Amino acid sequence: MKISPSVQDVLNKQINAEFWSAYMYLAMANWCEEQGLRGFANWLRVQYHEENSHALKFVNYIHERQGEVKLQPIEAVPLTWKSVLEVMEKTYEHECKVTEMIYNCVNVAEAEKDRATVNLLQWYVDEQVEEEANADEIVTNLRFIGESKGALMQYDHVLKGRSFKDETK
Ligand code: FEO
Repeated sequence: MKISPSVQDVLNKQINAEFWSAYMYLAMANWCEEQGLRGFANWLRVQYHEENSHALKFVNYIHERQGEVKLQPIEAVPLTWKSVLEVMEKTYEHECKVTEMIYNCVNVAEAEKDRATVNLLQWYVDEQVEEEANADEIVTNLRFIGESKGALMQYDHVLKGRSFKDETK
């Protein structure tokens, strides 16, 4: 069954939001790299790859449903932050906003009685729980670390261990 115009529209908006997220995380990764925080930069670059994969999962799905992908311009993202704590607080806040957007997609799909899209979106609902929890954990750890440069460098080293695994497939 071909995707309905309203579901196609809300998923196209979500594609733009996922690419915007990718762009924002790349900007955050660049900023961390320039501060000498290579582990945080690595973590955020993995996040950048994840967001691209989230967008592409929607792209593939719209095609599977004989719909049309309409890529829109990506708005500018912030380029500087006061501290790495602020970077991670913004990450957490942003993921909460993305969760709301995904819930809105679910509402539109449910209104259309589009079971397939509701099913697809469940993957994103689950993913958002993890996205929020990951960011929240780092914020909590950074608050413990406080002003300790030594502890921050140790934690930065831990974050070098994250690698990208495409979980959308
Ligand atoms: Fe695609 Fe971070 O949500």
